[in-house]
Amino acid sequence: MSIENIGRIKGENLANLHSWCEEHRKLLSPTLSRYARGRQELWLRRYCDLRRDPTIVQGYRNERIEALGERLLPGFHIGLFLLYPPKTCILPHRDHGCLAPTAVSVNLSDVVFVLNEERHELKNGDVTRFNSKSLHATEPKETERFALIFWHLKEKYVKPIKGE
Ligand SMILES: [Fe+2]
Repeated sequence: MSIENIGRIKGENLANLHSWCEEHRKLLSPTLSRYARGRQELWLRRYCDLRRDPTIVQGYRNERIEALGERLLPGFHIGLFLLYPPKTCILPHRDHGCLAPTAVSVNLSDVVFVLNEERHELKNGDVTRFNSKSLHATEPKETERFALIFWHLKEKYVKPIKGE
């Protein structure tokens, strides 16, 4: 598996998701990632400090967005709500070693996603599943972009949180 388009959120559902992003924008903080300077983020379900020996604790809990994550990646352990301000991008990287390889992302704006140097033009609402241990990046764009992403943790990093 490199990248698969596994669906597209459309119409009213897409509009509602954009509204959720706007309503929750005030909870975003500057990223911990070295590969995405300028990005704003909110950890979902669990929080990870992205250190080499990571601390993982309960993150922001939200029934609505966790239900979406469950539909797209059943039993997901951790996720991110992301805002890329205009002209920010993600430099080529592999995701943190505590995360299982499969990532599912919801793209809330048109963007060019690059996986193993192959360009993929994603549309607003596209849901993709990709191998986050392959080198991946996004190209900068003129307008801001929201995104959501969900992962499982590798087993040794899973400690139960409320409701699990
Ligand atoms: Fe990544």
